[in-house]
This record gives sequence, C-alpha cells and structure tokens, in this order.
Amino acid sequence: MQSLSAEEIVIIKEIVAKHVGSPGSAIPILQEIQKELGYVSTAFLRQVAELTETPASDLYSIVTFYSQFRLEPLGKNYIQVCHGTACHLAGAERITDSLEHETKTKCGCTSENGEFTLEKVACVGCCSLAPVVNVNGETHGRLTPEKTAKVIENLRNKGNEGNGDVLR
Ligand code: FES
Repeated sequence: MQSLSAEEIVIIKEIVAKHVGSPGSAIPILQEIQKELGYVSTAFLRQVAELTETPASDLYSIVTFYSQFRLEPLGKNYIQVCHGTACHLAGAERITDSLEHETKTKCGCTSENGEFTLEKVACVGCCSLAPVVNVNGETHGRLTPEKTAKVIENLRNKGNEGNGDVLR
C-alpha cells in the first residue's frame, strides 16, 4: 500500500482545510490535489476520506467516473494526441498508431518505464496544423508517422526535454 510523504500530507491537509464546511466540495478538493500533485492516488483518497469524514468509496467513485482524474502519475513525457475533427480527418489515427508503436504504450496509459504517457484529447485549438500532438506542453503540427517517430527519438536523445520542433 502506498504511503504518503510528509509533503503530500501537508498539501492535502491545506487543500481540504480551504473547503471545510463547503457542501459538494469533494470534486474541487480532488481537482486541486491533482493540480498540485499530478494525480489522485488511492492513498490520497484515503487521506481525503479521513479528513473530510467521507467514505473513501464515494471519492473513488468520483475519480473513476470523471475522465479528468488520473489515478496514476504521469510519465516523464506527457503526450496528448488530438482527435478533434480536423486532426481526425488529417490522420490522427495513423499518428496515434505511430506513437503507440514508438513508445510501446497504449493511448490512455503510461509506459512501464514511466517515460511516456499517451492520451487522446479533443481539439487543442491548432486545427490549421492538423494533425497535432502536444508534447510536454509544446505543439507539434502537420505530423506524419515518420515525423512522429522523430519526435519520440528526439525526446529520448534529449533526456526528456522538448525537441524544439514546434509548430512546424
Ligand atoms: S482538431 Fe486537432 S487541433 Fe483542432
């Protein structure tokens, strides 16, 4: 069972304290925890349950119902593949296949070595550059499977930094 660090406990206590007495505060509390700590583990849920006197099963139901919540930490590289209409028409599936192949990770998952997290997302607002992938906050546009493989290769070579191939 995962145990919490002292820092995590302090962060969770501070977030819960801000919401004391507010009805319907479970979702905002969980959102803030994810914002601060990157995810909402079952250990975090137990801590929130204890502090708020809410059944942990209720909190667990919330994080599994809403896709915005993540129960696992992100990989070192967070890759979002746009599957909005423009990107879909421009070949988002081929880009997704290439990413899954190159990272050996399924979309919606983190690689076993913790290096990559892949996620499908809705339009990221750069439709003229479709198909688009967001890598650690940087947009990579007009991708082909070959360019996608290069993006991943560059990430590996650069020790998980962005590769500068932005908006090309
Ligand atoms: S549909 Fe992909 S950026 Fe808009």
